[in-house]
Amino acid sequence: MIFTITVDGPAAAGKGTISRALAARFGLAHLDTGLLYRAVGAKAAEGMDPVAAAEGLTAADLARDDLRSLAAGQAASRVAVLPEVRRALVEFQRRFARREGGAVLDGRDIGTVICPEAEVKLFVTASPEVRAHRRWLEVGGDAAQVLAEVRERDERDMNRAAAPLRPAADAIIIDTSGLEIAEAIARAAEPVARRIG
Ligand code: DC
Repeated sequence: MIFTITVDGPAAAGKGTISRALAARFGLAHLDTGLLYRAVGAKAAEGMDPVAAAEGLTAADLARDDLRSLAAGQAASRVAVLPEVRRALVEFQRRFARREGGAVLDGRDIGTVICPEAEVKLFVTASPEVRAHRRWLEVGGDAAQVLAEVRERDERDMNRAAAPLRPAADAIIIDTSGLEIAEAIARAAEPVARRIG
């Protein structure tokens, strides 16, 4: 079975939680594509050329334990504006999306650029304040700065020329601002269950 679910949306909207839950429930492979950009950003922050980093990405690069920090998110967002970096990561993501057995991919451009032919496209969002609060619960620190960083990353991700963050025309929008996790997952699972039958 070839069956792809794309889950796009801004930082800390709940994409990861929803994607992992869908993968477990429907027995699909899951790829957090943000991790690819985070790994490239981390190498670029260490002085490596970002395009070379993207072209030579290894499993070990993706297993680094410093990729979840706010700094890694910002570094990822900065290298993600580079068309050559994005191009270097396309093939791997496309192959993953159409692998036998089905897949869930979460990111920013999965339903629009990587896999427009996906069977189910979701766009998961929430207000910047709600997303910043969730991120702050994870990382702590200065709440106002976390909100400023969320807004800065939204701005860069949505306004870049190469594959900007936006919902595909046929994406189902799920706003998780006022939803419990279980409710958000139930809403995401519903169109998948309908499609899988
Ligand atoms: O989802 P995340 O916070 O781990 O993503 C980190 C950054 O990587 C995000 O700010 C933009 C970029 N990204 C992207 O441009 N395209 C993707 N498919 C996934 C992430």
